[in-house]
Amino acid sequence: MTASPATSHDTIRAVQWQGDHLRLLDQRLLPREERWIDCRNAGEVTQAIRDLAVRGAPAIGIAAAWGVVLAAQQGAELDQALAQLRAARPTAVNLMWALDRMKGRIAAGADVVALEREAQAIQDEDLAANRHMGELGAALIVPGSGVMTHCNTGSLATAGYGTALGVIRAGVSAGRIEQVFAGETRPWQQGARLTMWELVRDGIPARLIADSAASHLMRSGVVQWVIVGADRIAANGDTANKIGTYQLAIAARHHGVKFMVVAPSSTVDMATANGDDIEIELRDAAELLSVAGQRTVVDGADAWNPVFDVTPAELIDAIVTERGVIERPNAKAMQAMFGH
Ligand code: MRU
Repeated sequence: MTASPATSHDTIRAVQWQGDHLRLLDQRLLPREERWIDCRNAGEVTQAIRDLAVRGAPAIGIAAAWGVVLAAQQGAELDQALAQLRAARPTAVNLMWALDRMKGRIAAGADVVALEREAQAIQDEDLAANRHMGELGAALIVPGSGVMTHCNTGSLATAGYGTALGVIRAGVSAGRIEQVFAGETRPWQQGARLTMWELVRDGIPARLIADSAASHLMRSGVVQWVIVGADRIAANGDTANKIGTYQLAIAARHHGVKFMVVAPSSTVDMATANGDDIEIELRDAAELLSVAGQRTVVDGADAWNPVFDVTPAELIDAIVTERGVIERPNAKAMQAMFGH
């Protein structure tokens, strides 16, 4: 069902439709264990999204679309399934975008087979977009460059190949990128646990850095681009992404390092004027108070755990989508590419 990998730098498919259930590679357990979980109804898909068994903006949209198919197969109340899935996480607009697409097909009278076709199209289009963005983004990088990335934007976070990690895959394949650094991405460690797993598995040489080493790395002159994904891009180009992205953009500008956002057009939200209007997910303080399930902070301590932040458009050098590249994004350029 899922498209096969195109290159040796692209071997992972973490969201797999099985005809009557959805199989997900459980991202909570990587890299220590590669365990698959089977979701058999929309409630189980909702839970998997909320608990981060599946995560990354495009992947949660794709999983949610399959959740709607499961609900339709079982004759469940579709409005209820749509509402439940929509409420699973607030920041990544791909979730709402995919559900709106499914809702549109339901409103047009689609049967189960047609809904299955729509979910598969959402998944296939994402993979195609990633491959195209990989080429577009890699073309911006001068051969011999070093890059750093944040969070996980790879095959695990998408239908396959990845957004920012797709650009890195393409840039490495084309010989443009010589060094890759991945920030560990506290507190959930998407960079350390997931990005490094993908890169090692696909044979891409990379080094992990502590999040707090980023400015020091940029000052050394070794990296020319910071390349990240997005959870929502507002109409003026302001971009919500994993917490810590904003400080990387500030540090990049200070050091003359370029900053690239890579995301499919399903991440663009022209209905949100600017980043101030993007809801930032707050997760349980417990995620910050423990490491690998072990409490590391004194009992009685509290924590504040916003899991996304907003990078203002003026700190972004390029937004790469499958529709093309916007350099120095602003509302006018966004409107020209994404306005109707
Ligand atoms: O909380 P997560 O792991 O779902 O956050 C993921 C990110 O912030 C990614 O950078 C973003 O979704 C882009 S994934 C292609």
